[in-house]
Amino acid sequence: MLFDKIVRPTLYRLSYHDPELVHERTIAVLARLSKLAPALGGALRVDDPVTVLGLRFPNRVGLAAGMDKNGRALPAWAALGFGFVEVGTVTRLAQPGNPKPRLFSLPASDAVINRMGFNNDGAEALAAKLARDGKPGVPLGISIGKSKVTPLEEAVEDYRFSLRALHPYADYFAINVSSPNTPGLRQLQDRAALAELLGELRSTSLELAGDGAPTPVLVKVAPDLTDDALAELLEVALEHGVAGIIATNTTLSREGIVPAESGLAGQGEDCPAGR
Ligand SMILES: Cc1cc2nc3c(=O)[nH]c(=O)nc-3n(C[C@H](O)[C@H](O)[C@H](O)COP(=O)(O)O)c2cc1C
Repeated sequence: MLFDKIVRPTLYRLSYHDPELVHERTIAVLARLSKLAPALGGALRVDDPVTVLGLRFPNRVGLAAGMDKNGRALPAWAALGFGFVEVGTVTRLAQPGNPKPRLFSLPASDAVINRMGFNNDGAEALAAKLARDGKPGVPLGISIGKSKVTPLEEAVEDYRFSLRALHPYADYFAINVSSPNTPGLRQLQDRAALAELLGELRSTSLELAGDGAPTPVLVKVAPDLTDDALAELLEVALEHGVAGIIATNTTLSREGIVPAESGLAGQGEDCPAGR
């Protein structure tokens, strides 16, 4: 109520109604607050613990990938009460993402259109930040994706690089093959491509684990798959020891967009997301 009626409208007014600026400013404030987070402790923490994937989550509500791609405000998310944080999606190479504007607010439809395109500082920068600042006090998921300039045929190496760089810090990995904003990425959900990718990542993760338990690897799927494609994907995931499915990424559907905003919705190649 307070957020819907006061906080969000104020943020939008102060940011010239530019949703990306609202996002950037929110992260900047939370990054500053993160320096105080030890003092804040877990003031807003909700304790309703659950153990999944061998990890103890203080509660079931986590922060999805895309909000804090570069892990700039990790202690603040934990202090705000989130039960886990998924950072990323990060890619092997730092990249600027799609040209702006690339985030659109559709208030009457209660939606946003996201066509960010994996703007991020790269896997090594995130690893350096985590080495320097440490992890949040809640499980940390790291979402990895393919760099835009990497051809699809070389995708495996791209993901493997990020897996290696970030392995010391991840409580689980999310393999993002379902963003609509990197051309061709969703083809990695097809049987042969996915089998190769998951097979290689599985052996790398076993090798990195040595005698310890391998870090769980999850796959994030698109909501736009047909039932048959989804069944096939699940089969491949099971065959390759995937620990879980993250459902779901941004949709391509325009269902639920009110007619007055359908013109704007048509501008992106992608995806309303309830907000
Ligand atoms: C601005 C924006 C950026 C996002 N970036 C990512 C991303 O980098 N990686 C990812 O896996 N999902 C990303 N997502 C998808 C969300 O994590 C989430 O899966 C999606 O919004 C669907 O959930 P919802 O229906 O609760 O919005 C992004 C979503 C938005 C709105």
